[in-house]
Amino acid sequence: MTEPDLLELEVGGYAQGGVCVAHHPDGRVVFVRHALPGERVRALVTASRKSWLRADAVEVLTASPDRVTPPCPYAHPGGCGGCDLQHASIPAQHAWKAAVVAEQLQRLAGVTVDVTVEPLPGGPLGWRTRVAYSVGHDGRAGLLAQRSHTVIPIDRCLIADPRVAAAGVTDRPWRGIGAVEVAVAGEATRLVARPPRGRPRVTGPAALVEHVAGRDFTVHGFWQVHPAAASTLAAAVLELLAPAPGERAVDLYAGAGLFAGVLDDAGCSVVAVEGSRQGAADCAQNVPAADVRNGDVATVLATGLDAADVVVLDPPREGAKAVVVAAVCALRPRAVAYVACDPAALGRDVDTFGELGYRLTAIRAYDLFPMTHHVECVALLEPASVPAP
Ligand SMILES: C[S@@+](CC[C@H](N)C(=O)[O-])C[C@H]1O[C@@H](n2cnc3c(N)ncnc32)[C@H](O)[C@@H]1O
Repeated sequence: MTEPDLLELEVGGYAQGGVCVAHHPDGRVVFVRHALPGERVRALVTASRKSWLRADAVEVLTASPDRVTPPCPYAHPGGCGGCDLQHASIPAQHAWKAAVVAEQLQRLAGVTVDVTVEPLPGGPLGWRTRVAYSVGHDGRAGLLAQRSHTVIPIDRCLIADPRVAAAGVTDRPWRGIGAVEVAVAGEATRLVARPPRGRPRVTGPAALVEHVAGRDFTVHGFWQVHPAAASTLAAAVLELLAPAPGERAVDLYAGAGLFAGVLDDAGCSVVAVEGSRQGAADCAQNVPAADVRNGDVATVLATGLDAADVVVLDPPREGAKAVVVAAVCALRPRAVAYVACDPAALGRDVDTFGELGYRLTAIRAYDLFPMTHHVECVALLEPASVPAP
């Protein structure tokens, strides 16, 4: 007998990744998108495995009071895969993200914390300063469907900064191009058109200049996509670490040197480590007083550093992982600020810190990515010998 494609489900709590949890009549867990806790929905099965299924709520039989009409016409089952929380009110989006962070820390690190997700200025739409469009076989630019390479053609992305929309990527054909990236800063717009093979075509400046905390940062590579993110994270890191003049600071995964810059301004002597050659060059230009090391964080820590007072750790999504966490603890810092874009990776690394004598003493969480399930945390880790606040 084949499985039915449509299930009627009572939706349970929030889970990581923009889904809620429900249960199949046979006991398997169902991860349901486009749903909210407490709802009764009819859901289309999109993947079925031995112990779990994925499904999209295609009909709401009993709606949550937190449900709203998505402002974007492409935010629906089978539509654009980008904004997975548009059907939730803004307070419900914050509650969802806070619950996920708290649950991951509890489950993976055994740490119980109250988490509040703080909004950034500017509202939930029109914030995204960097957008990567995909181009379909017909040459039309759009955004990818959830867990798919299918390009959903769009007229306009509502979370994109108006300057991104003004670049007009979705208004013209892109024959022979696979992807188009737009990034804006101040008056400048950079557009990178990537053919499936060969060199990308860049229109506009190769580097953008970002102004944060009284400094200019020249950026060729990574930069946060929300215009208020860099200043918000820099302020959180300074507040949590409370660096003193003369302290030795280490900025790991430094990118263009955002945290190295503010630690330098606080009077610290700064070592910054960045894997990308261009990122390290930007960091050296942006923070001339810093000792910038271009290389893999684990390798540099294994060979080049022996002590630090404060450390900033801002790894990519997969987290720092055990080898780097152990090397950070071996520097015997009095405080570590861990900037994390993935709550599960943060939970795993906080667990490793715990095994090595460092405990979580504070956490801030920010809505850097409104309308999506993504959330950014800044966690403070201190030696377990420091009394609890
Ligand atoms: C999340 S970004 C943070 C950048 C910077 N801290 C900021 O706030 O703009 C992570 C950075 O880590 C770098 N990176 C990724 N893996 C690395 C590794 N194994 N060793 C060194 N750097 C790495 C990337 O090039 C990227 O610049």
